[in-house]
Amino acid sequence: MSEEKPEGELTVRVQPMPADLNSAGDVFGGWVMSQMDLGSSVLAVRRAKSRVATVAVDSMHFVRPVRVGDVFNCYCRIVREGKTSITIKVEAWVERKGTFRLEKVTEADFTFVALDDLGRPTPIPAEKSE
Ligand SMILES: CC(C)(COP(=O)(O)OP(=O)(O)OC[C@H]1O[C@@H](n2cnc3c(N)ncnc32)[C@H](O)[C@@H]1OP(=O)(O)O)[C@@H](O)C(=O)NCCC(=O)NCCS
Repeated sequence: MSEEKPEGELTVRVQPMPADLNSAGDVFGGWVMSQMDLGSSVLAVRRAKSRVATVAVDSMHFVRPVRVGDVFNCYCRIVREGKTSITIKVEAWVERKGTFRLEKVTEADFTFVALDDLGRPTPIPAEKSE
């Protein structure tokens, strides 16, 4: 039996705090999304070599809850490059408190636009071959 594993580069590893909980006692979805936005922007900025803005979040899928005591991880990979935009698949996994088992909790596609100094869309530079 094949076991699913995280795909992509680990860009965020953080523990949610009690202030990040919703009224049901699980971690607030907005906190999860903001960590995923931050984690994917690391890859977008590195690829674009400029500042970027998040223009879209697609296919957001909350699979399981995140709880206080879990360690929250974002794994990111570029899945599409356009002229000025980049789409990054983000998988959020937690290391569960107590068991330390890895479980996927959320996934989504974040699209960023590369911006010039005036905030206008600017082309993604060609990748240099080493
Ligand atoms: C990012 C921004 C400057 C782009 O301006 P724009 O007028 O939409 O620019 P364009 O129409 O030239 O599109 C730029 C790129 O974004 C892509 N894009 C625009 N809207 C999109 C959407 N909803 N989904 C996916 N891609 C989108 C376009 O396809 C294009 O990609 P390409 O060059 O690779 O083909 C503008 O939308 C903006 O400022 N948005 C707010 C960003 C922000 O504040 N983010 C933080 C939110 S908390």
